[in-house]
Amino acid sequence: MKLLITGIAGFIGHAVAKRLSGQGHEIIGIDNLNTYYDVSLKHARLNDLADCHDIRFIHMDLGDREAMAALFRENAFDRVIHLAAQAGVRYSLENPHVYADSNLIGHLNVLEGCRQHKVGHLVYASSSSVYGMNAKTPFDTGDSVDHPVSLYAATKKANELMSHTYAHLYGVPMTGLRFFTVYGPWGRPDMAIFKFVKAMFEGKPIQVYNHGDMSRDFTYIDDIVEGIVRIADVIPQANPDRAAASARPDQSTAPYALYNIGYGAPVSLMSFIRALENATGREAICDYLPMQPGDVPRTWADTEALLKATGYRPKVHVEEGVKRFVEWYRDFYQV
Ligand SMILES: NC(=O)c1ccc[n+]([C@@H]2O[C@H](COP(=O)([O-])OP(=O)(O)OC[C@H]3O[C@@H](n4cnc5c(N)ncnc54)[C@H](O)[C@@H]3O)[C@@H](O)[C@H]2O)c1
Repeated sequence: MKLLITGIAGFIGHAVAKRLSGQGHEIIGIDNLNTYYDVSLKHARLNDLADCHDIRFIHMDLGDREAMAALFRENAFDRVIHLAAQAGVRYSLENPHVYADSNLIGHLNVLEGCRQHKVGHLVYASSSSVYGMNAKTPFDTGDSVDHPVSLYAATKKANELMSHTYAHLYGVPMTGLRFFTVYGPWGRPDMAIFKFVKAMFEGKPIQVYNHGDMSRDFTYIDDIVEGIVRIADVIPQANPDRAAASARPDQSTAPYALYNIGYGAPVSLMSFIRALENATGREAICDYLPMQPGDVPRTWADTEALLKATGYRPKVHVEEGVKRFVEWYRDFYQV
C-alpha cells in the first residue's frame, strides 16, 4: 500500500514509520520540523529512519494548501495516518493561533486531500484531553466530550467533528484515536516524564502540579503504535440503523469510528515519580505547585472497544516502560 504519515519526525510518527517500514509498503512522511521543542531530536528521529528505503521524507507544512493538494494529487494514498499537530495543553494558552493553523486548517487540508483522492482510510490522532471535565471513569468514547478545558482539547474535538462531516458527506472512512499520555524512547521533551528525568539527572527540582494529586493513564509508545497499526486495518463501517447510530457519540450512519488507546489503568503522579526514582537511581526534589490552567486531574481509558476491534490490549506496565525510557535517555544523552 501507499501510505502517508504526517508528523513523521514527531515522537509517535517516527515510531509508527519504523514499525511499518519493511512490510512492503511505500511510505511518504511529512513534517514541518517546527521548533516547539528541540528540533535536533526531530532530526535525530529522521536520521534513525535513514536506512528505511521504503520511507521518503518531505519537509512540508500541513497548512500549505497548495503543497498539500499537490501531495495528494501526485500520490494515490491507500491510507493516511495523520499524526502531525501542535501538541501540548499548556502551550495552547501561550500561542493559541498555532493550534488553529496546524490542528484546524492543517486537519482540513488532510480531509480535503482524502476526499478529493478517495483515500481508503484516514486514521488521525485525537487525544484523551477531549474528555475535559468528564468526571465519569474510565473514560469511554460513548461519553459526552462537550466540556474541553484547553484550546488544544477543543481543536482535537473539532478534528473529530470535521472528520465525521467528511465521512458522512463523502463516504471516506475515518477513525479518530484518543491517545492517553504517551511515553517511551524518543519521547517529547515538553512532557512530564522527559522533564522529570532530565531534572533528576541534573539534580534540579521537578515541578509537581496540583500538589501531586493527579493521575494519568500512562501509555507506552509500543502499545500506541500497535494500536494504530491494527486499527488502520479496521475500516469503519456505516451503521445503517439511524436510531442506534445517533444514540452514542462514537456511532454513526457514516463510516466513522473513535477509539481510546490507553493502558487502561490510572497511575498516581507520586507513584509515577517513585518509578522514575527507581529507574534513575536518583531522588526527585519535588516542588509542589497548584493545578495548571487547562490541565485535568485524572485520565483513565476504557479500552474494551479497542480490544473488541483489534484483539489487542496495551500491555507494557508503567514500571517496565519507565525503565526502558530511562535506558534510552541515558544512552541518547550520554548521562
Ligand atoms: N504524546 C502524547 O501523549 C499524545 C497524547 C494525545 C494525543 N497526541 C497527539 O498525537 C499526535 C502526535 O503527537 P506526538 O507526541 O508525536 O507529538 P510531536 O510534537 O512529537 O509530533 C508532531 C509532529 O508534527 C509536526 N507538525 C506540527 N505541526 C505541523 C504542521 N503544521 N505541518 C507539518 N508538521 C507539523 C511536528 O514538527 C512534530 O514533529 C499529535 O496529533 C498529538 O496531538 C499525543
